[in-house]
Formats: sequence, C-alpha cells, structure tokens
Amino acid sequence: MHKKNITKYKPFPAVDLPDRQWPNRRIERAPIWCSVDLRDGNQALAIPMNIKEKLEMFQTLVDIGFKEIEVGFPSASETEFAFTRLLIENDLIPPDVTIQVLVQAREHLIHRTFEAIRGARQAIVHLYNSTNPLQRRVTFGLSKAEIKEIAVKGTRLVKELVPEVKDTLIRYQYSPESFSDTELEFSLEVCEAVMEEWQPTEEAPIILNLPATVELSTPNVHADQIEWFCRNMKERSKAIISLHTHNDRGSGVAATELGLMAGAGRVEGTLFGNGERTGNLDIVTVALNLYTQGIAPGLDLSDLNTLRESYERTTRMVVHERHPYAGELVFTAFSGSHQDAIKKGMDQMDPTPGAHWQVPYLPIDPDDIGRTYKAIIRINSQSGKGGVAYIMEVEFGLELPKKMHPEFSAVINRIADEGSKELQPEEIKAAFYQEYIDLNKPLSLESYKISTRPDDHRHITFTADIIVEGKKIFIEGVGNGPIAAFVDALDGAGLKGFHLTDFRQHAITKGSAAEAIAYIEIQREKDKQMFWGASIDGNIELAGLKALVSACNRAWVSEMPTRLATDAASSDLVLQEKGEQS
Ligand code: KIV
Ligand code: ZN
Repeated sequence: MHKKNITKYKPFPAVDLPDRQWPNRRIERAPIWCSVDLRDGNQALAIPMNIKEKLEMFQTLVDIGFKEIEVGFPSASETEFAFTRLLIENDLIPPDVTIQVLVQAREHLIHRTFEAIRGARQAIVHLYNSTNPLQRRVTFGLSKAEIKEIAVKGTRLVKELVPEVKDTLIRYQYSPESFSDTELEFSLEVCEAVMEEWQPTEEAPIILNLPATVELSTPNVHADQIEWFCRNMKERSKAIISLHTHNDRGSGVAATELGLMAGAGRVEGTLFGNGERTGNLDIVTVALNLYTQGIAPGLDLSDLNTLRESYERTTRMVVHERHPYAGELVFTAFSGSHQDAIKKGMDQMDPTPGAHWQVPYLPIDPDDIGRTYKAIIRINSQSGKGGVAYIMEVEFGLELPKKMHPEFSAVINRIADEGSKELQPEEIKAAFYQEYIDLNKPLSLESYKISTRPDDHRHITFTADIIVEGKKIFIEGVGNGPIAAFVDALDGAGLKGFHLTDFRQHAITKGSAAEAIAYIEIQREKDKQMFWGASIDGNIELAGLKALVSACNRAWVSEMPTRLATDAASSDLVLQEKGEQS
C-alpha cells in the first residue's frame, strides 16, 4: 500500500443537491423485491448451479414470497435458455410470479431472449448497456451519443418483438449499467430516451433500474444520486425506480436503505448477498431490517435456518457466522454481562402476543425467524452467572436459586478454563450433577423413617441409618419438618457444624419423569462459609433430605471436620422449610 501522497485514487464527487429531502424521510413500506439469485448470483459461483439446483432455488424464492424473479440470461448460454424453457413448459411459475430475463442491448441476443420466454404468462424483459465514462472509453470506445443509441435501438427491438409473444404480458426494464459512476445528466438522458421509445404509461410503467454495479461512494452519495434522478426525470409517474446495489465497500444494505428513502420503490438483490466480487445487496438483511422497524417485509423469513441450508446447498457458498440475522453466532452471547442482560430482558418480557420486543443486545426475537433461544448463550470461562443459570433453566428446567448462581458459575468457569473450551449444555448439566446431585461421600443417607409424635403435633421424629466415612450410624432427631428433624439428628450424632440458611424446591418441568429438585444452603460455623447442596428425586421429601446431605458433603469435602460441633447450639438453626406444616 502507498503510505502518503496517494495519487492513485480520487475521492468520489459529491452530488450537488443542497435541498436533498431523503435524510428526513423514513421507509414506511416494503419495496417490490426482485431476486437476481438465478442470474447475478449464479454467474458469480465457482461452480454455477445446475438445473436441478436452479429449480430448488427458484422454488425457495417462490416459497418465501418473491413475485419477481430474474431467472437468468437465456441468450447467454444453453443452460440458461433451457432453464427458462423448463419453467415455462412445465408450468412451474405461479400465476402471481413474473419471471425476468436479462439481455444485453444486442439484436441477436434480444431475439433469442424472446424465443426463451414464449408461452410465459408474463415476463419482464430486462435490457442493459454500460453508460459510465470508463467503460465508454476503455471497453467500447464509443461516444455518449453512440451509447444512448444502443439503449434506444435495443428498446425499439424489444418493442417490435412484443406482438410476437401474444400470450405473454411483457413488461420492460432498462438498466444503465454502472449508473453509480455515470454522469447523472447522462444517465437521465439515456433513460428518458429509452422511455420516449418505449412509451410507458402510469398503468404499465417502465422499470428503470439504477445499478451501483460497482459500489464507489458512501451510501449518502448513492441516495443523492437516486433523489436527483427522481426529481429531475420527466414523467416520474410512468416509471418504477429500482435499486441494484453491490457491496464493494461493504455498504450495499445501507445504500439500498437510503436509496429507498430517496424515492426508489423496487429493490433487486440476492439471498445473503451472493453475487460477483463482494456480492449483491443482501435482500434478507434489508427485509429483516424493515421487520425490526415494524414494517411487514412481504417475504416470509420465518425459517431462516432452512433458507440458509437450502442456499448453502444450492450455491455451495457459506453464510458467515456473523452474518446479520442468519449467521450461526448471531444469537450467541459469550460475554457475561451480555448474558445477564439478555436473561433479565427475557424474564421481564411482557408475554402478551405482540408486546414490544425489548431484550438487550437482541434487536429481533430469534423465534420470529426460526432461530432458537437454545443457541443464545454458550458458556466459556468468561461467562457470567446469569448465562449458566439461564442454560440450567431453559435446557433442563432447573431454576437455581439466585444466591446459588455465583457458586455454580464459579464451578463452570473453572471447568471451562481448565479445558480451555466452551461448554455445551449437557456438559454443564453433568458438572451440576457431579458437584451437587451425585454427592454421597463422606455422608450418605441409607434409610430413614418419619413418625408423628402422638403427644406433639407440631413436631415429628426422624430416625435414619447414615454412613459417615464408611461407618454406619443410627441417628434420631426431632423437628417441625423432615429437614429440621434431620438436622437435629445430625446434631445429636455430633455431626452438625452448620446453620441451615436456605431451602427451596420445585417440580422439574422439563423431561418426562415427575421429579422435584431441592436446594439447601448451609453456613459452616467455623469459618462462616456458605455451601449449597441440591438433589433430585421423584419423592419431594427425599429430595430435600438428600439436598442437605449434598450441602454437608460439599462443606465436608472442603475440609469440614467430621466431629465438628459437639457443643454447637442447635438453637442457632435457621430453618425455612417451604410447604411444611408447622
Ligand atoms: O450490477 C449490474 O449493473 C447489473 C446489471 C446487469 C443490472 O447486474
Ligand atoms: Zn449486478
């Protein structure tokens, strides 16, 4: 690259339009969409689509709602010709869909194009020739007048051939190719000469497609060009102004959006922006951008995964992981603060159908385009507590108490860090089971019995065989519920060196088995450290008891002395058992 005095390139000239109107306008409705996947897209593929793939692509485009589809350049190759014929002869074009065929302004090609469309219900004949100074000079060596004459003569021939396809309603489109760097006055002069020849009406308007064949300027310049053209042309009402942006500077979408604000009513582009060099305009992105502004795009993009899959199969192209809306990672948050915010947003979303979507970091509800919440949060060593809790809740129906989130999230971050990897939901679940549920050493509950006390209805008696560090011990205690009585029994055996500080349980809504999970938090007396335990069981009472075992074992494993508090005051116990009779 040159370091200074870059004389090799020049800034793109501004358009003299001081009273431009487009910056104050908004896009209020969807444009007419025209797919050029089967032409501009196809001609840019390393291995062009074969007829079978083209058919699949055509069907996909029809299915998502395109009403105008450029099916190819039938005069350019036998395959393109055959494909157009196949569609027509097999009646594969729905009555409300118009096929479009591209042709250069050359006599024999125009004739061949008319042979290709014979028998179609309706067709747009799309004629183009290059109009910009560079191509006039280096490619054609022609004057402005000669370039204009090519467009006019081509138009005349199309008009003459229309009566030869009586059963076909012909619409006409003209593109001054490389409009983006053609002098505006000259583009207008050529287009008006074409209109003069074609004689469009308000009922049967011409389509003037103004391509940014190569994107050379900032999108505002493109919008100025479109507004300038719309304001200066004669008989504006007899033309549909169409945009056809490419993406050389990476702003094809922006250029199209500003072009719509500047007065265009039709947009040509491809799925996911496939096309020559950096591609054509990505229609999916523009359509979904409209959708997120509350404007019905007129295309059904509610199953973006299937659309992407079909696109990738037929074109052999790959949609980038960060591609707007469709990319694999678009609904994935790696950062903890993003995960927290997303979870809060999801939790606080008004469930009323049609309620305003307000979730931080997600400009669209993934569900609307067939993406799942499942992929929203993936866990690595940087993930926050909210993300881990979110996975546990949405994937497995386990609503970890908020106070437990930091503890479990630290476990997960450690595992992710040690393995230097991202953890999948199943691995997070396995870690949860290993850390809490499957913990039955050094303490385990072998069997237990609960009996009521005839003289005291407020308390129950709890007896159990427990194993402590391999030795079986019989314990007995009294309490206002099973857990309190179990704690009392541990105390009686000299095994209590903690306060019970929290207890919750809930039914597990995911999965087929009717199970409950209980969570218990204890505070170790000697150092005031907090430990959570958890257990799952079909018997809700047993789930609670085993959750206490889990908490004790976690505290124990982290060096709780076995014979802790022979003198521990059991009156210190803070017990909050939910759903128990006192
Ligand atoms: O990019 C372009 O200019 C084209 C024309 C043929 C419309 O594809
Ligand atoms: Zn193009």
